[in-house]
Amino acid sequence: MSAAGVDLRHRETGLVELMDDPACDLDELRLTYARFDVVNRLVSGWRRTWRARLRPLAVRARDEGRTLRLLDVGSGGGDVPRALARWAARERLPVDVTAVDPDERAHAFATGRPTEGVTFRAASSADLVAEGRRFDVVTSNHVLHHLGDAERAAVLADSERLATRLVLHGDIERGRLAWTGWWLGTLPVRRSFLRRDGLASIRRSFTAGELRAVAPPGWTVERQAPARLLLVHRVPAAGTPASTGATGATGATGATGATGPTGSPVEGAGGGAAC
Ligand SMILES: C[S@@+](CC[C@H](N)C(=O)[O-])C[C@H]1O[C@@H](n2cnc3c(N)ncnc32)[C@H](O)[C@@H]1O
Repeated sequence: MSAAGVDLRHRETGLVELMDDPACDLDELRLTYARFDVVNRLVSGWRRTWRARLRPLAVRARDEGRTLRLLDVGSGGGDVPRALARWAARERLPVDVTAVDPDERAHAFATGRPTEGVTFRAASSADLVAEGRRFDVVTSNHVLHHLGDAERAAVLADSERLATRLVLHGDIERGRLAWTGWWLGTLPVRRSFLRRDGLASIRRSFTAGELRAVAPPGWTVERQAPARLLLVHRVPAAGTPASTGATGATGATGATGATGPTGSPVEGAGGGAAC
């Protein structure tokens, strides 16, 4: 398929990624996890998100004598939670990262690269809910487009139950920019699923409008360059009324007067600095 010759008007949810095949080539799968380290650094925008949204929470936690508890859901090879822990450690900020993925192959790869401040577990978000765990912040990268409707709704409901402050789910924004950039940028890539799965991922991914349409009440969708979406849920401090008609950093609007899974008010604004 050429860089131009693909129909991106609709999500192609029937496409299956090679890395999801339990019988896929394990060497190529490991190479794919390894290359995601570079890809996520270049395009996924977590450095910006760390600076604008997570670092301020870590600074506040330090000033209050606490440790910021962060959960990364669907951590795959683990490079995003490792990066978050490294950025925190560099500034001696007290951040404790738990990274979960139920895929044993991902877990084996991730635990082969231990990083101070990160605990990897072969577990799902639902497992942590069942254990009654709570975290200040819940994040994910490239998980939403991966899931069917029911699974995605379950992960978002789990995120609301697990987070006491903030949920940030980052993903690709489907469109010509993502497609052409990936098509050209991965031309030289051999011996991993990166090129094929990346192109399939883009076709499975949401536009901002589509993600907004399936977001639970009180969540907002923000667009980030290049071709990124951030699905945001901010948990207000106890006693704070839900805001209405909230506007995200790029003008995204959230639901109004929303309530969380337990009936507690949730704030619709993406808020904070744009990232
Ligand atoms: C495309 S991978 C993303 C990996 C990694 N976050 C990255 O950016 O490279 C999506 C991962 O989500 C995991 N996953 C799906 N549902 C999950 C859930 N409910 N809880 C935790 N992980 C989940 C899958 O096992 C898969 O490894």
